Amino acid sequence: MQLSTLFTTLASLAIASAHIVLVYPGTRGNNLITNETYPFGMQWMYPCGGLGTSRNRTYWPTTGGAVSFQPGWFQGHQTAFLHINIGFGTDGPDHGPPNMSNVMQPIWQLRGPTRNPYPGTICMPQVPLPAGADVKVGDKATIQVVELAVHGASLYSCVDIEFAEPGDPKIAEVNESNCFNSVDIGTADVYTIVTRESGEVNGTTSGADANSVTFWYFGRHRAAPMWQYLFTWAPAVLGGMYMFL
Ligand SMILES: *[C@@H]1O[C@H](CO)[C@@H](O)[C@H](O)[C@H]1NC(C)=O
Ligand SMILES: *[C@@H]1O[C@H](CO)[C@@H](O)[C@H](O)[C@H]1NC(C)=O
Ligand SMILES: *[C@@H]1O[C@H](CO)[C@@H](O)[C@H](O)[C@H]1NC(C)=O
Ligand SMILES: *[C@@H]1O[C@H](CO)[C@@H](O)[C@H](O)[C@H]1NC(C)=O
Ligand SMILES: *[C@@H]1O[C@H](CO)[C@@H](O)[C@H](O)[C@H]1NC(C)=O
Repeated sequence: MQLSTLFTTLASLAIASAHIVLVYPGTRGNNLITNETYPFGMQWMYPCGGLGTSRNRTYWPTTGGAVSFQPGWFQGHQTAFLHINIGFGTDGPDHGPPNMSNVMQPIWQLRGPTRNPYPGTICMPQVPLPAGADVKVGDKATIQVVELAVHGASLYSCVDIEFAEPGDPKIAEVNESNCFNSVDIGTADVYTIVTRESGEVNGTTSGADANSVTFWYFGRHRAAPMWQYLFTWAPAVLGGMYMFL
């Protein structure tokens, strides 16, 4: 696939409004579109950011494989939660999968360099298939990257694949040009440290009790300067974040 061409095309569209751009193993196409049909932007549409199933699938290993994408098209993605899920088969709408409910990569946090659009790429070199998935060469599936933005809505972007034997030359090579981690994008594991029993929900709607649900952004974060970590990523309180929005 002509990535440079894709990026040039998308860069020229970026002034309009953009979010996740899937790089590897491919993409359903450009859904960075805001028009009368999609006044809030196409990529917010579930599933797959409003694009129908591709007729041109790419090949992906039956053992799982690389997924890479650019998370920072358009502003407002300094932090986000990310998921990768997969739908199997072609029995659903538009000859796509019946659902996208199979988790490949559970939630983790993106820590970008700025609220403004940024060009970096995230590479997950070996995204596993969901536990218990049983796929054969020739099976079709759709991989979806979900970016849950700080204001609570999610962006969706998909690629349609066909499974191939690992090492099959039909599978596009994974290399430093299509799967790399930018030094200025960090990630963090997500933990819940306060849990409540059913019925113990008092306080979650009250700003005064913002500690009700707390996520700590420690863990395997990488490649962000320490000062940035200290000032921006001290343990953040989700409830408190609303105040910034
Ligand atoms: C499929 O074709 C569309 C339209 O030409 C293109 O935008 C998209 O990148 C292609 N997808 C793959 C996975 O090659
Ligand atoms: C908006 O863009 C989508 C995707 O290209 C297209 O299907 C739709 O017809 C467009 N709507 C208008 C009103 O142009
Ligand atoms: C989702 O689709 C899979 C097949 O891909 C099926 O086994 C599963 O039951 C479906 N789940 C739901 C919630 O419909
Ligand atoms: C990386 O792999 C792609 C195919 O996925 C290929 O088109 C490109 O030339 C390769 N780049 C390098 C630097 O090897
Ligand atoms: C929740 O708040 C209500 C009203 O203040 C109170 O009656 C109730 O006992 C509280 N429930 C718990 C589980 O704290």
